[in-house]
Amino acid sequence: MATASASLPRDHDWWRTAVVYQIYPRSFADSDGDGIGDLAGLTSRVGYLRRLGVDAVWLSPFYPSALADGGYDIDDHRAVDPRLGSLADFDAMTAALHEAGLRVIVDIVPNHSSNRHRWFLEALAAAKGSPARQRYIFRDGRGPDQSEPPNDWKGAFGGSAWEAVGDGQFYLHLFAPEQPDWNWDNPEVRADHLETLHFWADRGVDGFRVDVAVALAKDLSEPLLSAAELAWRPAGPDHPLYDRDELDEIYAQWRTVFNQYDPPRSAVGEAWLSDHDRLARYARPDSLGQVFDFDLLRADFDARAYRDRIAPALARAAHLGSSLTWVLSNHDVVRHASRFGLPPLGPEADNSKSEARDAAWLKSGGQEPAEDTGLGLRRARAAVGCLLALPGSVCLYQGEELGLREVVDMPAEARQDPIFFRSDGVGRDGCRVPLPWQADGPSLGFGPGPAHLPQPDWFADFAVTVEEADPESTLSFYRLALAVRRHLLRQLPRPGDPMGLEWLRAPVGALHFRRPGGWHCLVNFTAPPFPLPAGEVLTASGPLPDDKLPEATTVWLRS
Ligand code: GLC
Repeated sequence: MATASASLPRDHDWWRTAVVYQIYPRSFADSDGDGIGDLAGLTSRVGYLRRLGVDAVWLSPFYPSALADGGYDIDDHRAVDPRLGSLADFDAMTAALHEAGLRVIVDIVPNHSSNRHRWFLEALAAAKGSPARQRYIFRDGRGPDQSEPPNDWKGAFGGSAWEAVGDGQFYLHLFAPEQPDWNWDNPEVRADHLETLHFWADRGVDGFRVDVAVALAKDLSEPLLSAAELAWRPAGPDHPLYDRDELDEIYAQWRTVFNQYDPPRSAVGEAWLSDHDRLARYARPDSLGQVFDFDLLRADFDARAYRDRIAPALARAAHLGSSLTWVLSNHDVVRHASRFGLPPLGPEADNSKSEARDAAWLKSGGQEPAEDTGLGLRRARAAVGCLLALPGSVCLYQGEELGLREVVDMPAEARQDPIFFRSDGVGRDGCRVPLPWQADGPSLGFGPGPAHLPQPDWFADFAVTVEEADPESTLSFYRLALAVRRHLLRQLPRPGDPMGLEWLRAPVGALHFRRPGGWHCLVNFTAPPFPLPAGEVLTASGPLPDDKLPEATTVWLRS
C-alpha cells in the first residue's frame, strides 16, 4: 500500500492548519488548446502554486463526465476524463505536487453518479425490482398510467426530482436528471465507494473532499412526503433525505479506510447545515474529521458578525478535537470580491438569505454599487487576512488570490450551468471562468486556444504576470501573508491547538486578537481609521496611511 511521498514530512496533523487551494481543473490551465483545462496544464503550474505558498490543492472532479453539472456527474470514479488526461498524467501531477511539498485532495461525489455510469445503464436495461435497479432509487409512477412522478419533490437545480424511464418507473435525482442518486442501503454501493477511496489513496492522494456529505442516507419508505411536508422538517435524523443518523456508520467505515494509511488520509465534508451540533457529527475524529465552516462565507463584512461566528466555532472544534476549515469562496458561490460589495444580509444571515440575495443580484445584471467600486476587493483582502490569522485551516478558491470578481456579463449561449437551464437563475459559471495568466494571447495564457467559458476584457488587468510585477497587488499580498503565516505557525508550540487565540479590546467595528508567539491580527471592518498599536508590521491587506488602520483593512503585527 502506498504511503505519502518521500518528499513530504510524515505529519498526521498537516490538515489541521493547511492552506488548501481549490482548483476547478477545467478552468485552471489548458495544455493542449482544446479550451478545457487539463492535468498536464496543472502540472505545468506547480511552480506558481509553490510560490503562492499553499500547502495543498483540492481538485474538483476530473473524472469522465458529460459535464451536465460541471463534472459532478461522474461516469467512472476511478478514471480520468480523456479530455483532461490519463491516470499517468494524474500520477505525474501528484508526483510534481508532492515534490514541491504540496498535498493532493480529490473530490469524492457519493450522492449520485452520472446517467452514463455503467451501473445506471445496467439499471435502465434491467427489469423493475431487479438487483441492478436497487443500486439506485427507482419508484413506481402515480396515476392510472403511472405517468406522474412518485411525488412532487423538486431537484436542487429546478424541475422535478424524478425522471421517468418509460416503463412506469421513475428514478430520484436530488440534482440534475443526469445525476441519479445512489441507494446507500445497498451493500454493493457501499463496497464500490470503499474501493474508490482505496484506489485514490493507493495512488498517493492525501485527502478527500466529500461532496454533499449529508445526503447519502435516505428513508424513502412509502408514503413519500410531499414537498410542503418536507420543507417543514429540519435536516436531522427524522428528515427522509438529509443528515440522517445512518451516515455515522457509513463514515465510520470510511474512517477505517483512511486510517489504514500512513499518514491517515484526511477528509473534509461539504455540509451546508445550520445546526452546529449536527454538523459536529461529521467533524468527529471517528467520522470525516473535518467540515467546511461556511458561516463566514454567509456573513456580512462586519466585526460583530465575524466574532459571533468565530468564537463559538473555536470552542466547538476544541471540544471535538477537530480543526476548522475557513472558506470565503468556492465554485458554487458568487466570488467574495463581488459579494462584499452587495447590500448587507443582516445579523440573521443564513444560507438561503445569501443565496437569494446573490441570485437576485446576478439576475439584475450584477453591477457593483456605483459609490465605491473598489470596496468589495478591499474587504475581500481584509477578510482573507483575518481568516489566515485564525487557528485552523483555510480553503482558497482559484483566482481569489488575483482579486477576481464574479463574471456577470456572459452571453446566454456561453453558459453551461444546469441552474441556468433548469430554473430562472443565472447559475455559477461566473465564478468558473478560466484564469488569466498573462495580459494577452487567445485565452490570456490559460491555453493556446480560446477558453471554454469566455473571459471578459477586464480579466487582463488581473493577470498573474501583471500582478507579479506589482508589489501592491492582491497576488503579492497573498504571497506575503502565506509566507508570514507559515513562518509564524512554525513557531507555535502546538500549531493545531484551536484554543490558541485571545481576543483583545478594539474600537467598535474592528476586531483584535492575539495568537501565541506575539502575533496580533487587527481587522478594521467599518470603524473610522484608528492608530496602530505598537509593534512591527508583518503584512497588511492595504495601505496604512499615517500609521492608522483604515476601514476594510487588516494588519498583522508582532509585539
Ligand atoms: C456540490 C458541488 C456542486 C454540485 C453539487 C452536486 O454542492 O459543490 O458543484 O453541483 O454538489 O454534485
